[in-house]
Amino acid sequence: EKDGYDHFMLKEIYQQPEAIKDTYRGRLHANEGLIRMAGVEDNLQRFLNADRILIVACGTSWHAGLVAEYIFEEFTRVPVEVEYASEFRYRNPVIRENDVVIAISQSGETADTLAAIKLAKDHGAFVFGVCNVVGSSISRETHAGAYTHAGPEIGVASTKAFTTQITVLALIALRLAQAKGTVTNSDFHRHLQELELIPEKVEKALETNDVAETIAGIYKDAPNCLYLGRGFNFPVALEGALKLKEISYIHAEGYPAAEMKHGPIALIDEQMPVVVIAQKQEHYDKIVSNIQEIKSRSGKIIAVVTKGDTQVRELADHVIEIPKTVDALSPLLTTIPLQLLSYHIAVMRGCNVDQPRNLAKSVTVE
Ligand code: M6R
Repeated sequence: EKDGYDHFMLKEIYQQPEAIKDTYRGRLHANEGLIRMAGVEDNLQRFLNADRILIVACGTSWHAGLVAEYIFEEFTRVPVEVEYASEFRYRNPVIRENDVVIAISQSGETADTLAAIKLAKDHGAFVFGVCNVVGSSISRETHAGAYTHAGPEIGVASTKAFTTQITVLALIALRLAQAKGTVTNSDFHRHLQELELIPEKVEKALETNDVAETIAGIYKDAPNCLYLGRGFNFPVALEGALKLKEISYIHAEGYPAAEMKHGPIALIDEQMPVVVIAQKQEHYDKIVSNIQEIKSRSGKIIAVVTKGDTQVRELADHVIEIPKTVDALSPLLTTIPLQLLSYHIAVMRGCNVDQPRNLAKSVTVE
């Protein structure tokens, strides 16, 4: 059932082009300039009347929520807050009747997320679920929702669930932006067309496997690792770090690149690998100067760059090239080499990739 792959995780990483297609099939009609999702259309007024959107989730799903925050605010201009379900449920949070709460969960069984949903419903909010497992508790508990259609995810480390969650959330954000008139026609069409090109670009991003394996061989014994990103790719830095720590047991942290100078830069020395997501997009010059700061302290730089990049290449110790896309969708590509990197490091360290110690696929206890 691993289809010739050594691990479910690797199989699931490679399934992403198909999984993303399955996610938008029947929903995205780029040529007609249409996005159709029943769960959204049936509740369009609830979405359009929302003063704000609250996103609740845990772990990787919370990272998808953070990416969604950037996408929703960019396109719909509705304020978004992303909450750890565990903190939200115990904080006595402010929840209003015209809040829309989006709960994200691969398994649909995460105890804290489920409890957060119940709390939001008790306060009269409209709760929308983004789940992978059909018929799961969260999909039943929410008022409406959209499945990710990623297919079964067996590896404990979430991979295709993450990219398909982002796909669903981007579709929702674009549809709402269109309905609200907060996106120009040309931007709307451009993003639909780019979304349709994502699966083939993910294929290209998967071709970084050999480079990722080589880099993994060099840094597999590092005790620590930093991940940096900005904007849409800040959450990808968090996700890259989570992936590394959960399967390889290397201590890793993700940071917004500009936060370096507020503390973590003190950690940098020649022993410290720093993975930087340095796409040729908005704030590129800022990320280049962040890379210079690391370099002048002798940190080892592994940069995920846009194909054709020359500036970062000159500074970095290693570069991983991926195709260009629009900024908002770039997390779908930048995350791929980070999954591969942690996979290979974990394998080289002899770790149980699919079932890391102390972890379960669905966390049904709080
Ligand atoms: O099933 P869920 O998406 O609700 O699970 C949330 C987290 O437990 C999950 O994403 C976890 O962080 C993964 N092991 C990360 O790879």
